[in-house]
Amino acid sequence: MNLFDELDRHGHEQVLFCHDAAAGYRGIIAIHSTVLGPAVGGTRYWHYESEAGALRDVLRLSRGMTYKNALAGLPLGGGKAIILDDGRAKNREALFRAHGRFVDRLGGLFVTAEDVGTTPADMASIHAETEHVAGLEEGGGDPSPWTALGVFRGIQAAAYVRWGSDDLAGRTVAIQGCGNVGSNLADLLSRAGATLLVSDVDSDRAARVAEATDATVIAPSDILGAEADVFAPCALGAVFDDESIPRLEAGIVAGAANNQLLEPRHGAALAERGILYAPDYVVNAGGVLSGGVDILGWSPDEVERRVDGIFDTVVRVFRRARERGVPPSEAADQLAEMHLVEARRA
Ligand code: NAI
Repeated sequence: MNLFDELDRHGHEQVLFCHDAAAGYRGIIAIHSTVLGPAVGGTRYWHYESEAGALRDVLRLSRGMTYKNALAGLPLGGGKAIILDDGRAKNREALFRAHGRFVDRLGGLFVTAEDVGTTPADMASIHAETEHVAGLEEGGGDPSPWTALGVFRGIQAAAYVRWGSDDLAGRTVAIQGCGNVGSNLADLLSRAGATLLVSDVDSDRAARVAEATDATVIAPSDILGAEADVFAPCALGAVFDDESIPRLEAGIVAGAANNQLLEPRHGAALAERGILYAPDYVVNAGGVLSGGVDILGWSPDEVERRVDGIFDTVVRVFRRARERGVPPSEAADQLAEMHLVEARRA
């Protein structure tokens, strides 16, 4: 990879390669944009096959955070950090404290939070070294219920655009993944009167959610093609590709999983099938909005108001998509880019 060409292509401002031999720590912090404010993004602890793969991941994820934060109306830029899980670290606390020291050196230019592979205890270790960390137990806490609320509002907005009413009573929603977000989403949908189909590779989780919400459990291999009005991917990314899109039965797709489209062209492929896709980073912004408690001093009421606003943002994205004749995924990118251009001008 030609690093500077790559940074140029996606507009990254700064990439830091961080190393602490004593802690067995190797990390990368990518700051994509600070145009709207300090770069905010989670820290991912993950085993990568190669350093190039790790770098590609952190560059892609940090850029995604700029778009997510911009469209969520946050006065925050986009960044991301990864810690390579390569068996070097002997002590988890020392590992995350080492990371915290590097975050601290940036003096607030980058604020981090929990992500795949990290826990609130890891955030507490980072916090022992720096103030620039969100999602602490004593602050905004678990972002998942907020993410679920945002996805719920996104589904309502898509229903409003598609069927002329945001009432989900009697609609069938298929949820892929009954984890932190999926289970909270199932609660909200069930209270709204929706009929639920749920699926998880962990059958105990699916059974627990089914019992609590009167849902029907579907095999993981069948959930994507299940007869439903809405498909809500709340498990993994890259769910929509050339093979899966033709199998979809739902008229609306809206879920929490990050990077649902394998490639950008799959946004167009969903639109060609007449499926209304509420872009992932628009509907799953509830989690990052809840970070406003720690980062921006917001009250929980303010977070709720902002998460509620995901409804209007999704409607705006669909409206622009229709007016411009582009898929919603592209319309969302355009709106986020407009925010950035305006902020740069200002
Ligand atoms: P989680 O790890 O709690 O839940 C994911 C669930 O999906 C697990 O129960 C897992 O067993 C299940 N799963 C994995 N592969 C599956 C498959 N092929 N079919 C069915 N189920 C499968 O994760 P969480 O926090 O609920 O997040 C869900 C998604 O939303 C992730 O992609 C995450 O990156 C994204 N997200 C989460 C946010 C949050 O606040 N937790 C914020 C923004 C995005």
